[in-house]
Amino acid sequence: MGSTFKKYASYYDLIYQDKDYRDEIKYLEKIFAKYSQKKIRSILDIACGTGSHLLLLAERGYRLCGSDLSKDMTQIACLKADRKGLKVSIKGNMPMQQVNFRQTFDAVICMFAAIDYLTEIKDLQKTFAQVHKHLRPGGLFIFDIWNGIKFLTSHSPKRTKIVRAEGLRIRRVSTTKVMLLTNRAVISFDCAITKGGKIVEHFKEDHQVRYFFPAEITHFLEQEGFTLQAILPFMGFNQDACTNAWNLTFVAKRH
Ligand SMILES: C[S@@+](CC[C@H](N)C(=O)[O-])C[C@H]1O[C@@H](n2cnc3c(N)ncnc32)[C@H](O)[C@@H]1O
Repeated sequence: MGSTFKKYASYYDLIYQDKDYRDEIKYLEKIFAKYSQKKIRSILDIACGTGSHLLLLAERGYRLCGSDLSKDMTQIACLKADRKGLKVSIKGNMPMQQVNFRQTFDAVICMFAAIDYLTEIKDLQKTFAQVHKHLRPGGLFIFDIWNGIKFLTSHSPKRTKIVRAEGLRIRRVSTTKVMLLTNRAVISFDCAITKGGKIVEHFKEDHQVRYFFPAEITHFLEQEGFTLQAILPFMGFNQDACTNAWNLTFVAKRH
């Protein structure tokens, strides 16, 4: 795990420049309004990456803390926070299964299927237990995962994404190998970065992930002291659409 989101971190924001983080913040705020009795003021993002959700939320007046396993990702998040003059607390080298801020929050978020990087059930349990410690009673835990049901029937073994930004062309080929007996997958990223037709950088990173099923996530949430509020198709509210959704949003409340 230590070798992921290293080189990939430097190109992460360019690769995902088409991801609509602003819209995702609107979605989160709709979830806050619908599922929280008290107004949400403080938020912890336990896999904040380069800080895209965290910084947009801070700009909207929430008090934000964030952490991530990858220091390379959080360094970028800190630089972005400094540039925007935002006061946030961001910690790198901090696995979510050991997240520790010695305070509680109104909400904890874990976005873009970062939970899927927990390939061991014991790490999922540890993470849920740590999140529980960081929430006030009634606080919300919101995260999205790949939907195991959909993953099994329709993952793409090979995909190519090409983006152009800052004079660079980034070609990312992802190859996914599924291990059916362990619910795991290895996504091998092969990234070639060129400028004016010349290769600037070429690297490979293997990301080990796990696909989860809604029933098992619900089981472990309940085991660690949460009440499930909703399973939603990511960016939507129609619970009937869940079976077919590639990503699922979980909303859980701390007892
Ligand atoms: C797909 S990125 C999502 C980042 C960010 N949430 C976003 O939406 O852009 C997954 C993130 O999970 C982080 N990650 C993976 N395993 C982790 C762990 N065990 N604890 C904390 N962060 C982890 C990676 O370093 C990476 O930043």
